[in-house]
Amino acid sequence: MIPTSLPDSLIATLPGSSYTDPGGFAQEQEHIFETMWFCAVRSSELATPGAFRTVEVGRESILITRARDNSVRAFFNVCRHRGARLCAEEAGEVKRAFQCPYHAWTYDLNGKLVAAPNLTKMPDVGRTEFGLVGVATREWLGYVWVCLAENPPSFEEDVIGEVITRLGDVEAIEHYGIGDLAVGRRIVYDVRANWKLIVENFMECYHCATIHPELTEVLPEFADGYAAQYYVGHGAEFGEEVQGFTVDGSEGLDRIPGVPDDQDRRYYAITVKPQVFINLVPDHVIFHRMYPVAADRTIVECDWLYLPHVVESGKDVSRSVELFDRVNRQDFDACERTQPGMSSRMYAEGGVLVPSEHHIAAFHDWVNERLGTPRPQ
Ligand code: FES
Ligand SMILES: [Fe+2]
Repeated sequence: MIPTSLPDSLIATLPGSSYTDPGGFAQEQEHIFETMWFCAVRSSELATPGAFRTVEVGRESILITRARDNSVRAFFNVCRHRGARLCAEEAGEVKRAFQCPYHAWTYDLNGKLVAAPNLTKMPDVGRTEFGLVGVATREWLGYVWVCLAENPPSFEEDVIGEVITRLGDVEAIEHYGIGDLAVGRRIVYDVRANWKLIVENFMECYHCATIHPELTEVLPEFADGYAAQYYVGHGAEFGEEVQGFTVDGSEGLDRIPGVPDDQDRRYYAITVKPQVFINLVPDHVIFHRMYPVAADRTIVECDWLYLPHVVESGKDVSRSVELFDRVNRQDFDACERTQPGMSSRMYAEGGVLVPSEHHIAAFHDWVNERLGTPRPQ
């Protein structure tokens, strides 16, 4: 129940139904997650040819593997014969082919149909024509990104462009050599909230002073409520007493050698729409990927990436991991606290954004544009 005309300080949010309506969520899956580049798995999870992962991208199950020539391949995880799910496992390894458990149609790592009962008696069946249907892939920052669109949008514009918009140039992220870092810890969060609440939360720091005591201790400027994402190229500076980006401000791990002095002792946060958040600090990178599964549920997979020797030597990364794990839990609790309010009749028309949150309106406009629904005046 917001007044018909808002004071200049406030901008309306999306209506409550935008966070609860299953029909709207299906539209988002179709026009956002199944159309845009989607960051699916860490490349190192596909270490050798035949290693595979299955992931849900929008409403589709996608099978991602590495072929003999070491290139990454991704396919709809659907058998061309009668549609059985080819791989039910989340991860695994095959020697040289995927065999459907139903009637044993068998596909090689390039997706080609290589065997099936009585296949030789059906010489007119094209092995490629009836092979697995592929989807576009790209590897960047040590992750495999997939795109289900028939004509994928430009990766340079949509993905790399987002990073440039936030940081000013692509070198600012390349300095961290993210592709060569190793996963020191992965935590998967099952969040009972709409994916847009999680994006909005990540984009603003109005809540930092209230719910992130440890983070504001390390990054004192966050106590003012201005998110690091507010200014192009800005990285929040560590507090003077702070030695590292850790839960108690104690010393971190080895600094990534490529990080230049002007990016040292700073924290950068980047949102790559629709489902990636990246945090850069001098000694590690925190990489979040969201998998929206329902209007009110989102799985968030978060990797803490360090220099390989830090991980291999078994150095204690727990104080480092604990800082952002706490931040994540504080944020996701806030999102879960907000989700039930989205279906309240009080919130039917939505809420309001204060000036330090006004940039979230651009995110809302973007969502509306993707769905073809103009913002109500
Ligand atoms: S459905 Fe896969 S072989 Fe028949
Ligand atoms: Fe937060």
